[in-house]
Amino acid sequence: MGKVLAVANQKGGVGKSTTVVNLGAYLGSRDKTVLCIDADAQGNTTTGFGVKKRSVEGSSYDVLIGNMKIEDAIMRTHCKNVSLVPATADLAGADIELIELENRMNRLKMQILTCRLNYDYILIDCPPSLSLITVNGLVACDRIIVPMQAEFYALEGLSQLVETIKIVKNKYNPSLDIEGILFTMFDPRLNASNQVVSEVEKFFPGKVFKTKIPRNVRISEAPSYGQPVMYYDKSSRGAEEYANLGREILGEEIEKIKEKKKLFGKK
Ligand SMILES: Nc1ncnc2c1ncn2[C@@H]1O[C@H](COP(=O)(O)OP(=O)(O)OP(=O)(O)O)[C@@H](O)[C@H]1O
Ligand SMILES: [Mg+2]
Repeated sequence: MGKVLAVANQKGGVGKSTTVVNLGAYLGSRDKTVLCIDADAQGNTTTGFGVKKRSVEGSSYDVLIGNMKIEDAIMRTHCKNVSLVPATADLAGADIELIELENRMNRLKMQILTCRLNYDYILIDCPPSLSLITVNGLVACDRIIVPMQAEFYALEGLSQLVETIKIVKNKYNPSLDIEGILFTMFDPRLNASNQVVSEVEKFFPGKVFKTKIPRNVRISEAPSYGQPVMYYDKSSRGAEEYANLGREILGEEIEKIKEKKKLFGKK
């Protein structure tokens, strides 16, 4: 049965969608079957895979609210072994609609139950809020990946997220746990960044991924080509570090990126 990972942090712009797209693509390239669920009305995971919103026949909105079977909303992407439940703008109103519905916390979970045998990994891209949609993601998943930037304010947001995780765990999903905290857009040359990493490691021993995703221009360019960075520029540092994250998820050793590359300012 597939492992369900929600990528969540209520703080905006920390690299949730980027992580879903790039981790999904890497796991697919390693012969794992992957389903990415775009649960954010912005649809960044959807565009990140090059899916045009016009071509969408069923979306995460239909799956959460409209009682469409998830199978009918799943589409193939151009990436090996990666399928997608796309998001469209109508998801923006879904939180209010969900309040009225039965099983409003469990709707995504119930849908995923019907298809999780078909995938090795299911990745959920949550919106930047602690809304009912995010709660659906936390209820539906086995583990949470928390991307964050190494900034002082990020720590404050983290405690709010942890509270929400505790509530969901106690009430709805007893085996819920954090898979890992992922530092993104990371610059090891900044003292402040390293301090934040040490703080977070103190509070979450063993829960911080060894891999730190650097700020990398190729990562930010790739979505405008509708491609994960490993398809856009396989030798970029961004692609290499997302591969390392994938290796950690698969329980493998991460590959040391040669010091040389850093010295010569590899893109
Ligand atoms: N490692 C990185 N290096 C450079 N740019 C990055 C990196 N990771 C993400 N970005 C860029 O930062 C922006 C925010 O990333 P992303 O959309 O993945 O964050 P998010 O947490 O999903 O945002 P939101 O909360 O709005 O959903 C995007 O423009 C993305 O291309
Ligand atoms: Mg996003």
